[in-house]
Amino acid sequence: MENVVWDERYSVHVRALDEQHQKLIKMINALIGLSEVSVGSEAISDALTEMTNYAQYHFSKEEQYMLEYDFPGYQSHKREHREFKRKAADLCLNAMQNKTTVPMEIRKYLKHWCVNHIFKSDLKYGAFFKKKDIK
Ligand SMILES: [Fe+2]
Repeated sequence: MENVVWDERYSVHVRALDEQHQKLIKMINALIGLSEVSVGSEAISDALTEMTNYAQYHFSKEEQYMLEYDFPGYQSHKREHREFKRKAADLCLNAMQNKTTVPMEIRKYLKHWCVNHIFKSDLKYGAFFKKKDIK
């Protein structure tokens, strides 16, 4: 499966959040690349846990900006974050229980999420922040 590639088109016009997206994508690509590793390997659950923790941190930053600048889509965006956290926790749990479907599930879910959340939903607040001229 091909890596996810960030570029300027996906900028949300807040430098700190763009940098966090790039880091998150790097972690997700590492997970996509790990998929051939045996499911019993701690590498999968460790990398998943690390990515999930970073995603939590990143979501709270995004949500802070949204609240501060009164982004009207705050509630529904927060709901998407909650859904991701729930799914990532499931994947972590399944990885620890050595479920054999985990590598494929990780690949599919994380890639789909990058494309639909970071490259689509996040751009909605990006357009809003652009008007606010946040640095
Ligand atoms: Fe987001």
